[in-house]
Amino acid sequence: MSKDAGLMERSQEQGTVARKRRGAGTIGEADVGARVLLQAWVRRRRDHGGVTFLDLRDSSGTVQVVVRPEQSPGAVAALDRARLEWVVEIEGEVARRSPETVNRKMPTGAFEVVASAGRILARCEPLPFNLEGPVEASEETRLRFRYLDLRREELARNLRLRHQVVMETLRYFDQEGFLHVETPILTRSTPEGARDYLVPSRVHRGSFFALPQSPQLFKQILMVSGVERYVQICRCFRDEDLRADRQPEFSQIDVEMSFVDRDDVMAVMEGLTKRLFPLAGVEVEPPFPRCTHSEVMARYGVDKPDLRAELELEDLTSELGSSGFRAFRQSAEEGGAILGLAVPGAAAASRREVDEWAEQARAHGAAGVLTLRRRDGALQFQVKDALTAGELETAGARLGLAEGDLAVLVAAPRARAAAALGELRVPLARKYGHFREGYRLLWVTDFPLVEWSPDEGRFAAVHHPFTHPHPDDLALLDSDPAAARSLAYDIVLNGVELAGGSIRIHDPELQERVFRILGISASEARERFGFLLDALRYGAPPHGGFAVGLDRLVMLLAGGASIREVIAFPKTASAVCLMTQAPSPVDPEKLSELGIRVPPRNRE
Ligand code: AMO
Repeated sequence: MSKDAGLMERSQEQGTVARKRRGAGTIGEADVGARVLLQAWVRRRRDHGGVTFLDLRDSSGTVQVVVRPEQSPGAVAALDRARLEWVVEIEGEVARRSPETVNRKMPTGAFEVVASAGRILARCEPLPFNLEGPVEASEETRLRFRYLDLRREELARNLRLRHQVVMETLRYFDQEGFLHVETPILTRSTPEGARDYLVPSRVHRGSFFALPQSPQLFKQILMVSGVERYVQICRCFRDEDLRADRQPEFSQIDVEMSFVDRDDVMAVMEGLTKRLFPLAGVEVEPPFPRCTHSEVMARYGVDKPDLRAELELEDLTSELGSSGFRAFRQSAEEGGAILGLAVPGAAAASRREVDEWAEQARAHGAAGVLTLRRRDGALQFQVKDALTAGELETAGARLGLAEGDLAVLVAAPRARAAAALGELRVPLARKYGHFREGYRLLWVTDFPLVEWSPDEGRFAAVHHPFTHPHPDDLALLDSDPAAARSLAYDIVLNGVELAGGSIRIHDPELQERVFRILGISASEARERFGFLLDALRYGAPPHGGFAVGLDRLVMLLAGGASIREVIAFPKTASAVCLMTQAPSPVDPEKLSELGIRVPPRNRE
């Protein structure tokens, strides 16, 4: 007999069973006494004095199976070889477990299936890592054996949550009168600020498609087409430096609406949030707080603040800028700022701790940090005698320093000082008990329209080039573009940018004006976005929209720290798929069909 035939050996000692397969996790009170058929993976195996307990897992859950030699010697023989993650078939009768053996952690823990027959459907090699309990394997190993990793309860739960989020999203938009429209994957470059993934054309040698960084231009064109309310759960591709919350290939809930203003779009996003968060047991109540970009930068130092940290920055430039302390005076004279972050209860922070903060501040281009403490009834500045008693008191009052409190001060160009303290806010809040767990949503509005890009020597769009300038700032477009605000908005959740959008430009003249500010010449605009400019000339309604990062949303709802935990087949931080080994070299013939030659020195 061949090995495989041996595998299929089965024992059959009892009468007939309904041949309909039951989900392991569905076994319950109503089944007691009934005969069931299970086909599932061996999640755990325990042998106790001749009796074997197998926990069988399938997509519905887990149930315990008991194999007793005296009741079913055939089943024992058939299942004897079954090890972890083998796939088995079992027939048996559902019984109640005795009260002392009930497992309250398992939904089926009050029951077990007493096996009367069994067979092995597939074997499993020894596992490269444990699928139960805390994760011990490296992420590389887990990604290489992703099919095993996905069997882990945590990842399986994340996939289910993601499914629910997608289904609820589609239901919500359907009820709100939106049309789901697919847009091309093989397209032209879309300007979202990252590098494109390019796909060579065989038919048109030397020409390339770009994978969309987002469907931005298509969704605007759909507004010109009269769709009015568009939604798509779409794939986006961006060749950019990866972080824990970024993937080269990710999904968006992408939305566009016609005849709307900013409040209309925000209300739709808030409605979606209210529908989705309960899927993770979280209730949120719109409207969410709103803060302008300039206010957010002043209060938190970053444009996506984590509001769970209850500390805010203070501007001490007017209090300390003309003090006798050179570092402060010089900073103020050079147009910089002196910013402070008060941390109640931190007055006893050690030298080493302060050195660590200084290190972090230097990473943001500040020279370091200085501390101001109120202890033993007095205000103590790190540099003795550098500030007068009056200056100390005004600064202490401004920072609200009470006995036992400390403030971290940074003097630097304003953006650097804000970034340095903005970065310290969360760790300091966590350490000194000013961090409140929960889901804190915030709208950030009125982003600047453009920012100066020193590398390129021109203005770049802060959101994207199709964002409508703030109507009150149109006059600034020519005189001081950097001071002009836009009608862009982001929604931030616990320090992560969850969604972003804007009201768009629908007037072709204004669009061309903005291109000019961005240093995009008329011919370049025509070459890159001519189709959009044309479309805008054929009756474009006022429109606006947003896109939610689906992976990020599910990551936050699942309580995870990495986006890779909610994507079935993610890429590593160096943008490769360890399971399929993509990207991979291509046959020289295939390349020559495409008219491409890779010089040997460029091959990896
Ligand atoms: P934006 O570029 O802000 O806007 O993207 C919208 C949202 O998509 C998510 N996101 C990402 N998620 C994972 N990996 C990435 N690499 C990544 N990049 C972005 C974020 C972000 O908030 N077309 C505009 C939207 C619009 O204006 O309507 C756009 O794509 O959660």
